[in-house]
Amino acid sequence: MLDLSVNVGAYGPPPVVAAALGQADLSRYPDPTSREARSAWAHRLGRAPEELVFGSGAADLLWDLAGLLACASPSVLCVEPAFSEFRAALSRRGIVASSLAASERDGLRFPLEGLASRLDRERFDVVHLDAPTSPAGVRVPTPELAGLAAAHPRTRFVVDISFQSLSESAHEELMRWPPNVVLVRSLTKELGLPGLRVGFLVADAALTGELEAARAAWSTSAHAQAAALAAASPAAQDWVARVRARLLESRVALERSLERVGFRLCARSTSVYTLVRPPDAGDLRAALMARGIRVRECTSFGLPGAWRLRATNTAERARLGAALRDILDPLARHHP
Ligand SMILES: Cc1ncc(COP(=O)(O)O)c(C=O)c1O
Repeated sequence: MLDLSVNVGAYGPPPVVAAALGQADLSRYPDPTSREARSAWAHRLGRAPEELVFGSGAADLLWDLAGLLACASPSVLCVEPAFSEFRAALSRRGIVASSLAASERDGLRFPLEGLASRLDRERFDVVHLDAPTSPAGVRVPTPELAGLAAAHPRTRFVVDISFQSLSESAHEELMRWPPNVVLVRSLTKELGLPGLRVGFLVADAALTGELEAARAAWSTSAHAQAAALAAASPAAQDWVARVRARLLESRVALERSLERVGFRLCARSTSVYTLVRPPDAGDLRAALMARGIRVRECTSFGLPGAWRLRATNTAERARLGAALRDILDPLARHHP
């Protein structure tokens, strides 16, 4: 199966991370608060180690964070479309988040002005968004967003930057945010290891302390901690930078090849996935599935009929291109 529906690197983990995984000591309990990984990433990001919390991936951290914030019955605004786990976690606790949706007619541009005017009119305790956005990969104007957060210090901004390191905004990793911003970062994407489950959150030390106190001990495995520690090294981050450059190039190549067979781009992606609308050609997705290729249909993001595909390597792109030509051009089937 060629799975283009999941956004993970097509090049696997950095070699230093693979080596660290092989050496992780599973005969002991892991450090309960991932001290070494926290120090290494805090040093890299210019933050204090107490401001970081590690967990089993961004999804796990979003659920823990939602659980903690839900205790105060907050009013929450989600900028959508977005990764849905935060909204889902709140909803399980009886909190229905309001929505501010980007418009497809506007290329799913991040609705900064709409957000500013909602915050002027209504009081929200929490705002949640993805930067870059998901599933469109659109850039979020982060300096302006930081300004908005600074102007609303009583609102917590939960900013999911899980794809920042695999996007044109990777250089914003060291950006300074106001203290009411919580950053959530998956490491599974950039390491190409979704099965490992590892990520971290950066927030003010009062919130991270509460979060650590509210969850089970040892919630980040020894494997996850070893990989996270190695991932902060210059060697691993050089690898991520090379992978990013290749994937951004291949996303453009993928978009061009899809446009040639009648797909329309829904947005200007800045990351390693693209959101497209297929040509009207019957059940194209089922036909691709029958050929062992999976794409992400986006009804659950409120975009029925749109597909998200991850950037591919050359061999994968050739396979997708051949399958699409075979389905869309019956003549090619007889005269390959
Ligand atoms: C924006 C965004 N954040 C977080 C995640 C999940 O990350 P993790 O695998 O670290 O839980 C995803 C998964 O696709 C995502 O799209």
